[in-house]
Amino acid sequence: MYRYDEFDRTLVSERVAQFRRQVARRLTGELSEDQFKPLRLMNGLYLQLHAYMLRINVPYGCLSSAQLRALARIARRYDRGYGHFTTRQNIQFNWIALADAPDIMADLAAVEMNTMQSSGNCVRNVTADHYAGRAADEIEDPRVWCELLRQYSILNPEFSYLPRKFKLALTGSPHDRAAVAVHDIGLRMYRDEQGRPGFEVIVGGGQGRTPAIGKTIRQWIEPRHIILYVEAILRVYNLYGRRDNIYKARIKILVTALGIDRFRELVDAEWEQIRATGPVIDDAERARIQACFAPPDYDRAAAGDDPSPAAGISDPAYDAWLRSNVVAHKVAGYAIVNLSLKAPGRVPGDLAADKMERVADLADRFSCGELRINHRQNLSFVDVRRRDLPVLWRALSTLELATPNIGLASDIIACPGLDYCSLANARSIPIAQDLSRHFADTDKLQQVGSLTINISGCMNACGHHHVGNIGILGVDKRGAEFFQLTLGGSADENPSLGDRLGRGLPQADVPAAIERIVDAYLALRGDDETFLQTYRRVGIEPFRAVVYEPQGTTRQVA
Ligand code: HEM
Ligand code: SF4
Repeated sequence: MYRYDEFDRTLVSERVAQFRRQVARRLTGELSEDQFKPLRLMNGLYLQLHAYMLRINVPYGCLSSAQLRALARIARRYDRGYGHFTTRQNIQFNWIALADAPDIMADLAAVEMNTMQSSGNCVRNVTADHYAGRAADEIEDPRVWCELLRQYSILNPEFSYLPRKFKLALTGSPHDRAAVAVHDIGLRMYRDEQGRPGFEVIVGGGQGRTPAIGKTIRQWIEPRHIILYVEAILRVYNLYGRRDNIYKARIKILVTALGIDRFRELVDAEWEQIRATGPVIDDAERARIQACFAPPDYDRAAAGDDPSPAAGISDPAYDAWLRSNVVAHKVAGYAIVNLSLKAPGRVPGDLAADKMERVADLADRFSCGELRINHRQNLSFVDVRRRDLPVLWRALSTLELATPNIGLASDIIACPGLDYCSLANARSIPIAQDLSRHFADTDKLQQVGSLTINISGCMNACGHHHVGNIGILGVDKRGAEFFQLTLGGSADENPSLGDRLGRGLPQADVPAAIERIVDAYLALRGDDETFLQTYRRVGIEPFRAVVYEPQGTTRQVA
């Protein structure tokens, strides 16, 4: 893991002291809320419907067990005993008192964490494939580049007042688990014809009210140039991005307005200019950062462990868990284990303080003291010996963290929605809870197979509804909460935005509508076809018919 050096420690502690003074001035009334707002936003403190919300950076989703224990203490002492893991690999606390915020930041600094730039119009937490450094299909660990980009963009005065927020995501694998195509900049590693690893640079993707799949601005670039190339993009955005209209300020609007070819010309011109003098990542710097991500001392004796699913235990629930939640590791004898935060009826992404502590203990015992926040609001242990799987499964089962549903219909992404968020039209969480109860049956889940359901409480799309295989968007209809469905979205290496199915439905009708869509898929699917593949083959009409003309259901799909 990256460890703070003296420079980082000083920077973060000075920032805490500065924010402490700002909060004191707000509490005495010396600063009005309008004056205070930009200061708190630069430190990840939002004002939501009922209370302040604090967003804490977890760079590329890597957490140590000590950090997780510190988060548990914060949850218990300053919040209501739980935290919320987000799709951008952060954690949020929803019930913060303003007077406590500086103490929380000091507690975070003690475990090398901070909240800088987790909101505001700046470069946000740089995210990555949650299996980075461990995935069997990986070309190179992208965290080295994430960390360099993080260091370059944090408090960089040139990029502190961008037209709007800016999100970067990286993947080192051909299979995209980091949703790079719906980020302001997405970097995807692959090898050129000579076998050299480099990044494809994708720009102008995003969700929100104007969703867009990013466009390739550069097919391949050597990793050592990546920082300056990203800087060139940021400079063009900073110069030409719109500041007159918040809804048109994201880079995706600029890329669309200029066209990708003109945008590329501007970026290349900027790059030519700055590359002569700007920092290139030399081998020594790369090695310095790479050393932080050195793999643990793997137990070579584990290489011979039986990797077959039936090894060690005979229980259908265990087999289902192995199929859904356990993923191949690049080292023989090891596995990646996903902890599902989506047990039936649970709030997606929430974890209670006592469970955080138990998870930290399990990470120490089974996963070299580290874990990851994954981008579907679950957690991952990335260094588990296969021989430990049965014991770990039992321990996770008692914590309700072994629901065998990763990537399946009840592994739902949901934003905070109207339960917390001042921008919401509708409640996302109860819909997620209803649906996860609805899909509680493991056999049905497994029968349906790979299916992402993503829910947002308004068009800002924090719940990724545009890229859910089934997306659910909360809308307001004359003061009542309704939900619009989209089908066919995907955030992987073959990305697409969902198509709108039809008019919004009341909450009570949503589970039945999803059930009909799923049943239609089961009736229509070809051999081994996923929901998305079937949808792409047959189009929207059969699904529209079963939701809006249920009488026609049997005729349409039988
Ligand atoms: C409740 C506090 C939150 C507020 C006020 C908020 C606000 C917003 C707004 C206004 C946007 C639209 C930005 C745009 O289109 O330019 C947005 C986008 C987004 N938010 Fe949130 N958000 C909140 C919580 C969350 C949470 C909990 C998550 C993760 C579960 C999240 C993840 C995202 C993502 C992934 C996007 C879309 C990506 C993009 O920026 O294009 N947000 N948020
Ligand atoms: S999608 Fe809307 S309701 Fe949900 S968290 Fe984002 S801004 Fe709030």
